[in-house]
Amino acid sequence: QTPVGASAGAQVATAAAAVPAGKLTIIYASQTGNAKGVAESLEEQVKSAGLDVALYSADDYKPRELAKETHVVIVASTNGEGEPPDNAISLHEFLQSKKAPKLDKLQYAVIGLGDSSYEFFCQTAKDFDSYLSKLGATAMVPRVDCDVDYEEETESWAATIVKEAQERLKSGSGEVVVPLHATAAAVASAFNKKNPYQAELLTNQKITGRDSGKDVRHIEIDLGESGITYQPGDALGVWFKNCSDLAGEILSTAGLNGDETVDVGGESLSLKQALTEKFEITASNPQLVEKYAELSGSKKLEKLVADKDKLRDYANNTQVVDVLKEKKTKLSAEQLVGLLRKLTPRLYSIASSQEEVGEEVHLTVGVVEYQQGDQTRFGGASSFLAHRADDEIIGVFIEHNNNFKLPQDDNAPVIMVGPGTGIAPFRAFLQERDARGAAGENWLFFGDRTFTQDFLYQVEWQQFLKSGTLNKIDVAFSRDQAEKIYVQHKLLENAEELWAWLEKGAYFYVCGDATYMAKDVHEALITVVEQQGGKSREDAENYLNELRKAKRYQKDVY
Ligand code: 2AM
Repeated sequence: QTPVGASAGAQVATAAAAVPAGKLTIIYASQTGNAKGVAESLEEQVKSAGLDVALYSADDYKPRELAKETHVVIVASTNGEGEPPDNAISLHEFLQSKKAPKLDKLQYAVIGLGDSSYEFFCQTAKDFDSYLSKLGATAMVPRVDCDVDYEEETESWAATIVKEAQERLKSGSGEVVVPLHATAAAVASAFNKKNPYQAELLTNQKITGRDSGKDVRHIEIDLGESGITYQPGDALGVWFKNCSDLAGEILSTAGLNGDETVDVGGESLSLKQALTEKFEITASNPQLVEKYAELSGSKKLEKLVADKDKLRDYANNTQVVDVLKEKKTKLSAEQLVGLLRKLTPRLYSIASSQEEVGEEVHLTVGVVEYQQGDQTRFGGASSFLAHRADDEIIGVFIEHNNNFKLPQDDNAPVIMVGPGTGIAPFRAFLQERDARGAAGENWLFFGDRTFTQDFLYQVEWQQFLKSGTLNKIDVAFSRDQAEKIYVQHKLLENAEELWAWLEKGAYFYVCGDATYMAKDVHEALITVVEQQGGKSREDAENYLNELRKAKRYQKDVY
């Protein structure tokens, strides 16, 4: 089978084709598709090397098969607070259970995708690595944990795996299959992360009130003739340019003027342009602090570096420029760039359905803006969209999310919990169900600070209620009274009806804050199932786990 794009195909270097002695099985544990992408690219490369390979989503893989495998690679991202992605819950559970078989014939490799600003960095990959090794399997190569700008690392890791697989899977004859051309993913959509569509901004409207403590924007972007399609639940990847004032502040702090030239991936650019378009210059991160502690010799930073928890805390609460200002140091252009991460696009849950908006895509963007001492600090992508995108081109692409999808069955009831900007995908869901004339009932839980200032898309929900698309809406405004009222309180208040909906087959969706909200909502759900279902806590947890496995409990949390 010739991969698309490899016109000449793979060629055998010697007359006799090598007989593969075994197969490499690749399993991905993926939430938004990044790990899946890495796994697919590895599969292509292993195939091009003429080796036998099989690729599985973790939920399509029968874990008992592991006992029969000889070589397995797991590509794992981590969800929320160190949890496995939805598609890997079963496999993750199985490997730590008593049912897990001995795996002493298995050789494996694990790679993790994560974000080192989270405490549970690459936790799922770490778990898989430790479970497999406890079950007697041997690592072919040490586990690799990749941070947000993972591409270079995953590419070199994939090359290593291909080499290892060539050595381990071949029979002893020594024939090597040489790929003549690198295979391209020619069938994939024309636009992707590396080749985004150059879109124009159509609408940028503040939808929080004048007196709100928050600035939330309704953004509409024109997809023009791109042919890009998306489904409710998908996300839009957005490339952005940094604020040039901020770039200037960083340059002057490092004693540079910006005209210096730097090489970025083979392209020669002015340092100023590199800072605005190619590197992350807003949020700080632990690696940056470590490197700068060394360059600057700052005693304060050196002390932080010695304590991992304090370091992460500090990095989470500072921006790049704050770190540089801890001890102003003259840097070379290369040193400055060496401190920074490559710019990565931001993902926003899409707030529209194409059934309703055609060649447009809508977002609900919370503008990150806060005071740091006497300075105002801005988020990278959100401030770009809110303040600078009017006369700029926005590079966009779709990030499909198969773990956040409306039920296929239009008759199934749907419960949606989306406080704050977590509301975005539910606007898409309701538009879609409305356009499809789906008969299933819809129940929305929304929460924010105040009724008058922060009731996002209020008029639209009223229209959906009137037209019958929305059957029920419950709102929690946390700052309209002395005590806090949150969406989870509304869930508990409606426990009986909520249980009735779950028991009649409802799908339950949560979008928004992972750290507190999604956890509290989960706890509320456990309580509802315990009380209304007359179950022990353990049985209630199992009930929710079964819902998750059946894709009837889906989260898009960050
Ligand atoms: P607060 O800021 O008044 O505490 C959207 O951001 C809404 O989510 C706000 O009303 C915010 O309330 C609320 N929120 C904060 N923490 C929450 C939690 N643990 N669970 C649910 N909602 C929360």
